[in-house]
Amino acid sequence: MHNMKKILCIFLYCITSFNTFAHDSPVKVLRVPNANNVYGRIDPKTSKGSVHYLGTFNTTEECEKECIKQVERCWSYTHHSSKFTGYEGQCFGRIEELLWSPMKEMGINSGRILWPCRSNLDCSLNGECLDGMCKCDQAWMLHNCDELNLLKADKNTGYKQMDDGVPTSSWGGPVIRDPVDGTYHMFPAEMTRHCGINSWTVNSRIVHAVSETPLGKYKRIQEQQPPFAHEPDVINGPRGEAIMYWSAMEHKNNDTLCNCSDGSTPPSCKPGLVTFTTYMSMAARPKGPWSEPVVVFPTAPGDNNFAMVILKNGTLIGFNRVGKWGTSGSRIHLVRAESYLDPSTYKQNPDELWPLLPAAGTEDPFMYIDKRGNFHAIFHNMYPNDIQENCGGHAYSPDGINWQYGGRAFGNKVQFTDGTEFEFTRRERPHFVFDKDGVTPLALTSGAQYGGKYNDACYTLLQPINH
Ligand SMILES: *[C@@H]1O[C@H](CO)[C@@H](O)[C@H](O)[C@H]1NC(C)=O
Ligand SMILES: *[C@@H]1O[C@H](CO)[C@@H](O)[C@H](O)[C@H]1NC(C)=O
Ligand SMILES: *[C@@H]1O[C@H](CO)[C@@H](O)[C@H](O)[C@H]1NC(C)=O
Ligand SMILES: *[C@@H]1O[C@H](CO)[C@@H](O)[C@H](O)[C@H]1NC(C)=O
Repeated sequence: MHNMKKILCIFLYCITSFNTFAHDSPVKVLRVPNANNVYGRIDPKTSKGSVHYLGTFNTTEECEKECIKQVERCWSYTHHSSKFTGYEGQCFGRIEELLWSPMKEMGINSGRILWPCRSNLDCSLNGECLDGMCKCDQAWMLHNCDELNLLKADKNTGYKQMDDGVPTSSWGGPVIRDPVDGTYHMFPAEMTRHCGINSWTVNSRIVHAVSETPLGKYKRIQEQQPPFAHEPDVINGPRGEAIMYWSAMEHKNNDTLCNCSDGSTPPSCKPGLVTFTTYMSMAARPKGPWSEPVVVFPTAPGDNNFAMVILKNGTLIGFNRVGKWGTSGSRIHLVRAESYLDPSTYKQNPDELWPLLPAAGTEDPFMYIDKRGNFHAIFHNMYPNDIQENCGGHAYSPDGINWQYGGRAFGNKVQFTDGTEFEFTRRERPHFVFDKDGVTPLALTSGAQYGGKYNDACYTLLQPINH
């Protein structure tokens, strides 16, 4: 079963890379026509950081050869056709950077070189490099172990709320396990009054839903934070406690909330802009009682998308995003707190982590530490025009400080156990559900937009991961 999926997945890649060139390459190359792996990040004939200008060539074949013959490892190339204004024939390579986040663009060809691995870093820290070949952990697959090995999803699982016979939309949910009774607790962001995700800046609240099993159906038991509250992350602290971080603004009253009818948002609903304050609250067990919220990041016009892990000694490592809407989208900054218990120690690094990640950047991080002690994060990998086929991203780090953005980790097409397949119009806000060991990923949850009358109805999809 799993092998079938692997073959299929490689086959899908093959379809997109059918235009093989005349020459035989010494290494395997994944060639993708009409794709740009340096989108919006690079000036003509200029090298910047790990993106090197390799010269001007009439053919993509020559650009590919140039990439392969670099002394330092060139992981991918991007070649502009001779008719591409401003970049005629120009060839760029990503040197010692695996990043694969190709944006669909006519007149540009990209290719990814499938080099033998040299160390576990070349296997995205998701496997072991043995004799030049990555042996991927069960949750990951493909050449560099950077694609999630997702299984068929059961439509009766996840968080798919109905109220009064009408869908209530939700947008992803972090899940933690109660160490005492073994139940699983999800904290989805839910759009109140049957609206869709477009109403989020006003209608969103955070709820608490429970399942007996990690891959089950999560049932809402209560409201956790009233509107406006959004983008919760819930993790275990060093003492095993439950810790929630989220973005919120208190409504003086609920009059500005939109009223909708089928889980989607009519154009008449014009949710205003809110400001965002990032809070933290704790509880010995997920069922509470939860402590009085404290502010960890002050009120700001944009939301932080805060994601974090806490080390055994109480030091926190996390990501915040800075929104540069209209120019380069959502850009990630490292956060560090000497002690997670002391809000005055939370510091955001002024430099962004991946300045050369193609526009429009990445958002919705979820960070975790794996069984080997390496750091990872999954993301909503963003594209202009909401292109969704590469919508899941992955980054990895041996120390939580030096991070590599690997790029595509999953897409928006999901296969279900009933034999159907569905292409979600958006799939964002990913989180993992872990086994009781805390390090084996069992499932991916995400906000999944399926439609409704006004296109933005969504629910929290749970898709099992091979384990
Ligand atoms: C590249 O194209 C230009 C213009 O069509 C031509 O003059 C030149 O000879 C070509 N170069 C090679 C190496 O084919
Ligand atoms: C708004 O509605 C929520 C229910 O979702 C409630 O918990 C909250 O107290 C209300 N806020 C105000 C200010 O009335
Ligand atoms: C939504 O309905 C409530 C009454 O149920 C009303 O008070 C509120 O003003 C309505 N919201 C909008 C934006 O019209
Ligand atoms: C905790 O450990 C990390 C990693 O070893 C270290 O960087 C940090 O300074 C330590 N924090 C404290 C409070 O000792």
